[in-house]
Amino acid sequence: MGYRLEVDMSEMDELWVEKHRPRSVGDIQGQPSVVSRLHAYAKNGTFPHLMLAGPPGTGKTTAAMALTRDIYGEEFRENLLEMNASDERKLESIRSKVKNFARTAPYGNAPFKIIFLDEADALTNDAQGALRRIMEQHAATCRFILSCNYSSKIIEPIQSRCAVFRFRPLANNQVEEQIKNIAKKENVTLDEDACQAIVRVSLGDLRKAITALQVAAAVNNNITRDLIYETTATAPPEVLHQYIMACKEDGFHAARRRLKEILNNFGLAGTDFINQLHRALYDIDFLSEPAKLELTRMMAEIDFRLVEGGGEQLQLDSLTANISSIL
Ligand SMILES: Nc1ncnc2c1ncn2[C@@H]1O[C@H](COP(=O)(O)OP(=O)(O)O)[C@@H](O)[C@H]1O
Ligand SMILES: [Mg+2]
Repeated sequence: MGYRLEVDMSEMDELWVEKHRPRSVGDIQGQPSVVSRLHAYAKNGTFPHLMLAGPPGTGKTTAAMALTRDIYGEEFRENLLEMNASDERKLESIRSKVKNFARTAPYGNAPFKIIFLDEADALTNDAQGALRRIMEQHAATCRFILSCNYSSKIIEPIQSRCAVFRFRPLANNQVEEQIKNIAKKENVTLDEDACQAIVRVSLGDLRKAITALQVAAAVNNNITRDLIYETTATAPPEVLHQYIMACKEDGFHAARRRLKEILNNFGLAGTDFINQLHRALYDIDFLSEPAKLELTRMMAEIDFRLVEGGGEQLQLDSLTANISSIL
């Protein structure tokens, strides 16, 4: 246990998420409607301002880079300015970088340069208003690609100037396929149930999945299911089931001891445990639908109290007491 302490990502020579990032639009997994529209842009060599919206690790940055590379070839960096809105605290720095970049003509015979602004939803509404004006000033020579987690956090005047693309969490079989490919290329042995564990912990986030694979591979080149659960600080489903069973059959004190053990063994905080338990709840056969609903409501309440600073021990005891009395 406690492998996370022994693994230092900075000692790994290269991050696999970067090494195995798809280079061309055609290599992007899933996102069929996004990919087909991007293909058309790449083929025509031109596109409008774009907004890529969706959860982390689903291919937004990858898509922006791949499209740029497909249009400009290996020299694509000459025509690409990348910025991260959460690093550029002042809009002034975005303004001056864009101005500097837009001053020179596109490299080669490209029709325009590309400005990729990652995490644009980190900008305040005022800053977005100023960004809108920057987009307009340079529209003749530059195309903007903005990425964000939530399109609703981007002001309407920017949204209406962009073609909007929605990215979805990747399906289990897509995560599986990508993970197996990378494992093969990196010469690591990945047990089938270890691969399923990665799929389970990643929840459609490929960055999370690939990172889990690399962290585990740094500990042992033969990756087992247990290793994945240990290195990702996730309790496997059967352990969560055992806790629920203990609540149901062994009474409060035994269940409380079991919970403590789980937190220690997997290095979980109270909120991690509740969230993992919640995810496992719907797969537990012996619980009736009404019991699951009641448990969910109660767990949401306890999660909220924990986040608001309620004492962890007391809140978790309350969880155990509640489950024991509901079942
Ligand atoms: N749709 C996808 N197809 C293939 N690989 C992906 C996809 N989405 C994410 N990845 C992998 O996960 C890593 C992070 O993806 P990224 O595009 O940076 O995510 P984000 O949506 O957070 O910008 C990439 O380097 C790539 O290895
Ligand atoms: Mg990104």
